[in-house]
Amino acid sequence: TWTMAGFRDMEIARIRQQVGKGRVICGLSGGVDSSVAAVLIHQAIGDQLTCIFVDPGILRAGEADEVIRTFRDRFNIRLIHRDASDLFLSALEGVSDPEIKRKTIGRLFIEVFEEEAAKLGGAEFLAQGTLYPDVIESVSFTGGPSVTIKSHHNVGGLPERMKMQLVEPLRELFKDEVRELGREMDIPEAIVGRHPFPGPGLAIRIPGAITREKLDLLRRVDSIFLEEIRTAGLYDAIWQAFAVLLPVRTVGVMGDGRTYDYACALRAVTSTDGMTADIYPFDMSFLNRVAGRIVNEVRGVNRVTYDITSKPPGTIEWE
Ligand code: XMP
Repeated sequence: TWTMAGFRDMEIARIRQQVGKGRVICGLSGGVDSSVAAVLIHQAIGDQLTCIFVDPGILRAGEADEVIRTFRDRFNIRLIHRDASDLFLSALEGVSDPEIKRKTIGRLFIEVFEEEAAKLGGAEFLAQGTLYPDVIESVSFTGGPSVTIKSHHNVGGLPERMKMQLVEPLRELFKDEVRELGREMDIPEAIVGRHPFPGPGLAIRIPGAITREKLDLLRRVDSIFLEEIRTAGLYDAIWQAFAVLLPVRTVGVMGDGRTYDYACALRAVTSTDGMTADIYPFDMSFLNRVAGRIVNEVRGVNRVTYDITSKPPGTIEWE
């Protein structure tokens, strides 16, 4: 009978066979797929694997630290951490068009990754956390047959350019199986059960041009929302939940003073594949509590709205 432990052992044997004494590099994003791929490959070939984690400066609060702690300290995986936030943020300065944000970020990821790989002296193999759905449908999953609604950045084309062979140990699995495999290998639930997070990160959750100040506000709002969701035991019932910092200031009252600060939107949806989505029907008391905390704890944000648009016609992300 087929078991996940059996699959893992078979894949480990297959990776060893493919790689031999070669060197493998793997881009880590902190997401489920690349995390599970990295741990599996590490179990197969140990220090022949080096992971490259490019921190683009547009991740959620604490996420970069968590990646480093988990992979370097807990799994003892060779990890290169490149803090590229200055590079990404200066390239994004003044950029407000969502597609240009995506293209800029996608291009920089590849450039920085190649730079770090070159510093290592290159490698024969490139590991990717490609899943079965990516294999059968290698087009953007938000785009219809003839229109691309959002061009997801990915590293397609990278292996050819870098003349590397692909190692893709997850290419027969669906997302829920990848999670199961991750649990089998003791990857922390915080990573294995994590909501999807877009490659362009918080840059597409700040409509208009992003600034460090706005990123900081958004991170604080987002953390409060996610913390309350976890505390209420709702995280696993939700496909994605996040905050959006709106490019608009509104008038509020705080104590006996007037405020003129940013408004934010909260978004939480249920979905099975991200193609369609329904809003999560929070209790009003939950939303009330979150809004109260945000306005009280995040100076600079004085209004909270809840996005009640399903997909379609809305998309999950605002950009
Ligand atoms: P939308 O906003 O198109 O999102 O309804 C559907 C799913 O895709 C994610 N998403 C992205 N993921 N790069 C990514 O890697 C992107 O540019 C991108 N845009 C959207 C979104 O978070 C949701 O899971």
